[in-house]
Amino acid sequence: MPITTLADGEMRALRIDGVDVLLCRVEGEYFAMANSCSHARQALSAGRLRGHEVICPLHGARFDIRSGACRAAPASRPVQTFPVRVESGKLHISVAGAVQPPRPRFGPMN
Ligand code: FES
Repeated sequence: MPITTLADGEMRALRIDGVDVLLCRVEGEYFAMANSCSHARQALSAGRLRGHEVICPLHGARFDIRSGACRAAPASRPVQTFPVRVESGKLHISVAGAVQPPRPRFGPMN
């Protein structure tokens, strides 16, 4: 994908080799993570990007796009991230090692 197609502060849903990916650009850097909230699998691409955090549109969990770490409940598990590199003006996102997100858990929260 050419790097000029995503502006700073934007995010976009992509499907790469069967893996749903959320691509984000913040302060000129690109970050990629699974496009699936670890709480109940909501597509994070429908949420909002605030700084380096993406906010899930369903219940408001927040994830750091740099590490995938969960920063706010109700989610408690991280989201998988993927390496991104820029080469010759194009983005390359590696989804090697992508794992299927676990089924959502419902019930009492920890
Ligand atoms: S599905 Fe994302 S916080 Fe619930």
